[in-house]
Amino acid sequence: MCGIVGYIGYRKAVDILTSGLKNLEYRGYDSSGVALYNQNKIDVYKAQGKLQNLVNILDEKRAEVENSTLGIGHIRWATHGAPTTINAHPHTCNCGSLVIVHNGIIENFKELKVELEKKGCTFHSQTDTETVAHLIAQEYAKTKDLTEAVRLATKKIEGAYALCIMHKDEPETLVVTKRNAPLLVGIGEGEYFVASDVPAIIEYTKKAMYLNDNQIATLTRNSLKLIDENNTEITPKIESLPWEPVALSKMGFKHFMLKEIHEQPDVIRNVLNGKLHTIDEPINLEEVKLDKETLKNLNRVQIIACGTSLHAAMVGKYLIEDFCSIPVEVEASSEYIYRKAITDEKTLVVGVSQSGETADTITAIRQAKEKGSHILIITNRPDSTMAREADSLIPVNAGIEVSVAATKSYIAQLMSFYLLAIYMAEVKGCITKEISTSLKKELIILPQKIEQVLNEKEQIKKIAKEYSSFKNFIYIARGVNLATAFEGALKLKEISYINATGYAAGELKHGPIAMLDETMPVLSILMKGKVYEKILSNAEESKARNAKLIALTDSKDAKIDELFDHVIRIPEVNEILSPIISVIPLQLLAYYIAEYLGKDVDQPRNLAKSVTVE
Ligand code: AGP
Ligand code: GLU
Repeated sequence: MCGIVGYIGYRKAVDILTSGLKNLEYRGYDSSGVALYNQNKIDVYKAQGKLQNLVNILDEKRAEVENSTLGIGHIRWATHGAPTTINAHPHTCNCGSLVIVHNGIIENFKELKVELEKKGCTFHSQTDTETVAHLIAQEYAKTKDLTEAVRLATKKIEGAYALCIMHKDEPETLVVTKRNAPLLVGIGEGEYFVASDVPAIIEYTKKAMYLNDNQIATLTRNSLKLIDENNTEITPKIESLPWEPVALSKMGFKHFMLKEIHEQPDVIRNVLNGKLHTIDEPINLEEVKLDKETLKNLNRVQIIACGTSLHAAMVGKYLIEDFCSIPVEVEASSEYIYRKAITDEKTLVVGVSQSGETADTITAIRQAKEKGSHILIITNRPDSTMAREADSLIPVNAGIEVSVAATKSYIAQLMSFYLLAIYMAEVKGCITKEISTSLKKELIILPQKIEQVLNEKEQIKKIAKEYSSFKNFIYIARGVNLATAFEGALKLKEISYINATGYAAGELKHGPIAMLDETMPVLSILMKGKVYEKILSNAEESKARNAKLIALTDSKDAKIDELFDHVIRIPEVNEILSPIISVIPLQLLAYYIAEYLGKDVDQPRNLAKSVTVE
């Protein structure tokens, strides 16, 4: 989390830094700061809260800040120390000559701090980052060379970091380095940009160099020198960024989340484009680089992901097991990495991540890769760390998702799993032509069905208003829609801070039912098919405990209107494809409840879009 920006060149650094931070706001938004080199000194400006607070300070001091052409900036998602102005980055050494911004966690900061305090360093913040400022300053006192000081200091650090550093006595230099956190250098004519992510710099350049772990880049206005941790010089690999500058606009919607929910029909069309030509042809998934023989012989699939991506993975498991009869395990990356995960070259390991930068998932796929598994990554960011380390890459093409709560990227991940599962089943010869043709036929018309749901959003808005005062919700489902219940509940929690929990409907009576009374609404996902009647019975059980009931269903059955207090109807859909459509009303319900409660929908408290710390 958190965003780093740096600039050295000839333009007004303050403008580059603030516009860059604006485009990285999705990474964190609890405080921000910049340091500007200005007439033989470095000035630091910080503010608690949203970036706009910092922008206001900088606007007031425009005359003082606007001539600087060298600076670093940061937008924070606090890991160590409250989100206060003092804890905001940049952090400085004792005398203020050295300033740094940091993304990551310094795991041994306590030990370092004790040592540094013994050496006379005074700490002002509660952050782990401040130790790094003092540590580099100590090395600088000995070496009088910023790059060397950074190289020596980072050898003593344990943990993850992306760092951008300036020193008053090296007014022509920016030094950057990283380990297990993303960082790239944008290359211009007589100028360099540093950023945690492409949106911060794409307006200025399309040429960039991604740093690998432990590399250190030293930037002056006209030079870029890259070394590794042993001080060996490396030839920088300059890439062209496959991006167009996009104006991040809400297109008339009140929030990015609502806009992104409405983009989902087109996202589905995009995912299908080029992969599903006609219903009679096999799925074309040339992105899967496993040869067909290996694919046929796979004996297991593991899918690893976090949060919403984990819910997409759960649907993926259901599909691959159903279509291909191969056992599939799904696990949260943070669990996978701390147990003896059994995997080998006959296991396909799928990593799912909107951002492609989630620290836990990166570690998990690296562990699986070491054991010889083929790594397939499903991500919305083909330029991300995960994409770079993939053996096979399915880019989901959802377009930039600004709202912290994932919506359209989830739909794109789901679609990728449908294509993957049908593709694998076709290669393995374990799906009949009749079934695959009918699935493809339905996939193609799904966007229209979703448009129908979106056109009826006023009905969901009304229900949202009616339920917005409840403090707890239960979402129940079974089978392929169990993940939909989890995802719907997660959406509500994330943006409205209401306690919502998804349960397998059959599990209700094994404990959660004890909580039911008139204060606990139960939302049932009731798609026609295998488990329809079962969920209906579970809803009856809830009714008997006085819970208010909401149904989300594609059934026209009048029984439903009698039993439930409110019914959200969606177009009829094949049960196995229903997760693609059933989640849409749940996204809208969460959105309208949060909006009605006046919450910060796009930037919910305590969250960040990209979770680059473990
Ligand atoms: C989704 O609404 C959340 N913001 C969060 O759960 C997210 O899905 C999770 O952090 C995983 O991120 P990733 O997909 O970028 O790996
Ligand atoms: N650990 C640092 C802090 O809490 C950086 C946090 C981050 O990367 O989000 O300030």
